[in-house]
Amino acid sequence: MSKDKVQIFDTTLRDGEQVPGCKLNTEQKLVIAERLDELGVDIIEAGFPVSSPGDFKSVEEISKLIKNATVCGLTRSVKKDIEVAAEALKYAKKPRIHTGIGTSDSHILHKFNSTREKIIERAVDSVKYAKSFVEDVEFYAEDAGRTDNDYLAQVCEAVIKAGATVLNIPDTTGYCLPEEYGAKMKYLKENVKGIDKVILSCHCHNDLGLATANSIAGVVNGARQIECTINGIGERAGNTALEEVVMILKQHPYLNLDTNINTQLLYDTSQMVIENMGIYVQPNKAIVGANAFAHSSGIHQDGMIKNKKTYEIIDPTEVGVTDSAIILTARSGRAALAYRAKKVGYDLTKIQLDEVYPIFLNFADKKKEIVDMDIHLIIKNSSVDC
Ligand code: KIV
Ligand code: ZN
Repeated sequence: MSKDKVQIFDTTLRDGEQVPGCKLNTEQKLVIAERLDELGVDIIEAGFPVSSPGDFKSVEEISKLIKNATVCGLTRSVKKDIEVAAEALKYAKKPRIHTGIGTSDSHILHKFNSTREKIIERAVDSVKYAKSFVEDVEFYAEDAGRTDNDYLAQVCEAVIKAGATVLNIPDTTGYCLPEEYGAKMKYLKENVKGIDKVILSCHCHNDLGLATANSIAGVVNGARQIECTINGIGERAGNTALEEVVMILKQHPYLNLDTNINTQLLYDTSQMVIENMGIYVQPNKAIVGANAFAHSSGIHQDGMIKNKKTYEIIDPTEVGVTDSAIILTARSGRAALAYRAKKVGYDLTKIQLDEVYPIFLNFADKKKEIVDMDIHLIIKNSSVDC
């Protein structure tokens, strides 16, 4: 059975760049955008053109450069924003305007001092206006995660009628539980007229650490686009991490969902974003963290040396990591020491290993990690003749 495609909408250069302390210049954005295109993302959200002349220029230059992906610019439901975005996107082979407005009662009352009816009017007007510039118009219902489903369905129906091609259902505050977010998608699928003509999109924030789980719940319940960033960077606790959702879909083929991502470029792309943005990922970060394929306890190392699948569900080369790492620490056993010693040129017999192992433990108790140079020293300090 052929798999359904989930479009990957990368917003590293827009929502990702909203991370505090990070500023990319146009050159850096171009390098990252080109890599995202190579990676196989379907849509690159290049920026928010009305926000500054620099952002306008970046979106314009990215539009000229990108060969395959759709290039998208964000706007509020404001005419001027839409005009400026259309201008910045005019060189794009496949331009998309991403317009929208807050739909939760909290946004309607506190941000807009408005009413539900007036918000629908603004949403419809902005989609129609964007449609006068480009064919592909995505609408976002900001804070959809906390928007009542009935009203959200009314907003969606109205913007579909106005010509929206993609409906973005953001959990802007990272509030939803996976069951809740999945149920929201299902509700829209079942209750909005015309929903089958458009693509439903997940846009999840990570305030409760649920962005990835919510995005997966979204696609399991009918969404076919995930908005995400490399390394999950973004406002506050960040956005859904691209590398995580892509590998989840790949590792669970029974979901029958697939992406166009060349996963072998994931690690390198993560490093590129770290270097340009200066925002590091924690060592235990899934897929791209320094320890994602590192094994340090004796029991795990022994299992790994016998068969990698014992403790690894992903072959590291699939994401562009050369090999798994067996880290030598005071928790390591004989099997790991023999394995690493062999890698640096010592094929120890069982008797030699018994002699070297206690010396190794003495060293290891004083250091966080035993590196190759230490192995040479340890063997020199023993009576083993290699
Ligand atoms: O989180 C959000 O709601 C957004 C929208 C502007 C799409 O980033
Ligand atoms: Zn967002």
